[in-house]
Amino acid sequence: MKRIKVMSVFGTRPEAIKMAPLVQALAAREGFESLCCLTGQHREMLDSVMEIFGLHADYDLNIMQKQQTLSSITTRALLGMETVLEEAKPDLVLVHGDTSTTFAGALAAFYHKIPVGHVEAGLRTYDRYSPFPEEMNRTLVGDIAALHFSPTAANAENLRREAVRGEIFVTGNTVIDAMRTTVRGDFRFSDLALNALDFENSRVIVLTCHRRENYGQPMHDILRAVRHVVVTHPDVEVVYPVHLSPAVRACAQEELGGVPGVHLIDPIDVEQMHNLMARCHFVMTDSGGLQEEAPALGKPVLVLRRETERPEAVAAGTVRLAGVEYDAVVRHACELLEQPDTYRRMAQAVNPYGDGNACARIADAIAWHFGLQNEKPADFRA
Ligand code: UD1
Ligand code: UDP
Repeated sequence: MKRIKVMSVFGTRPEAIKMAPLVQALAAREGFESLCCLTGQHREMLDSVMEIFGLHADYDLNIMQKQQTLSSITTRALLGMETVLEEAKPDLVLVHGDTSTTFAGALAAFYHKIPVGHVEAGLRTYDRYSPFPEEMNRTLVGDIAALHFSPTAANAENLRREAVRGEIFVTGNTVIDAMRTTVRGDFRFSDLALNALDFENSRVIVLTCHRRENYGQPMHDILRAVRHVVVTHPDVEVVYPVHLSPAVRACAQEELGGVPGVHLIDPIDVEQMHNLMARCHFVMTDSGGLQEEAPALGKPVLVLRRETERPEAVAAGTVRLAGVEYDAVVRHACELLEQPDTYRRMAQAVNPYGDGNACARIADAIAWHFGLQNEKPADFRA
């Protein structure tokens, strides 16, 4: 029997973390051949994920450049994909989320008339400049894709309202599947700074901040606000694994370098990150993924953005939009540190984003689409 050749294309850290369990699930399934094509939009941060999940790249375009522009990522990935698709001739290309790799991967597949499956489809802010360029990337891929795998019912509803072509499935987010293997009670950190943290006697805040729309003034204001919070709360320690982007590193160093109680560290591997979050007091972030992971671990999140395409945990009460203004960030962080009732209300484990079975649903949906199984998978319900 001919196997269905599925090529997963990804290039950044979050795509890799969220595609890893799916690549594994497809590889383990009868009737499928699972191929992995990396654009290499990220390098060290991507390689770390490949190693942790034991993944092997069948193709690696290795496109990353220092201070790369959106155009250079997109064109280099698009051109690189041409040769790969001509050689591998997959039956289906899977892309994930909203990065430039996602857009270029989907467009390349379209140019070769290969159907596209979009994992994490239908999240929207409906502001085309925020997140930038991610909102547009995700929307354009929604137009290209034949199979849409939406984490939540609300994401699927967005796609139905937009009348996108193709089949829509509600699957849950694959990051919750990934966390089933990364989070462990007996985990020990290999990073020395993390090993030295005293989770009993200090309150550890995990901070990440890297988004393009926050570059410049917003990022400076956010990090100055964090500095104020640490300096005024002696029992607080902030751990900030700083993204390798030179723009981010310069700002982090300028605002938080040498501040007592602040640990500026290099990016950590995903197992350390998930287990750090599992042990922390709360999370401050402009990341997309952390907004999904922290609620599942019962950790409050202050989102350092003006909007979010992930409103479900805001509605559940575990995530608050703190914005990017100095005063607002200080106010939200101080409330969480000083008002035990607020903290208790927000520190409830909720799982609006998945039940850990997203990859099985996606694999079932692909099998159904190609006639390998009769039953369409049931939608995930939170
Ligand atoms: C990209 C995605 C963003 C996602 C983020 C996850 C786009 C447009 N943006 O943004 O949606 O949230 O990844 O982290 O696709 N670098 C390294 N080594 C690495 C990774 C990055 O040195 O392993 C440095 C390089 O100098 C690179 C820069 O970081 O030029 C920026 O990387 P880039 O992928 O362009 O942007 P991100 O901010 O990472
Ligand atoms: N992450 C990690 N190490 C770090 C920082 C983040 O493994 O030092 C993980 C995090 O747990 C999440 C993902 O990377 O799974 C989020 O990636 P990022 O914030 O870069 O991108 P976004 O989610 O905003 O697209």
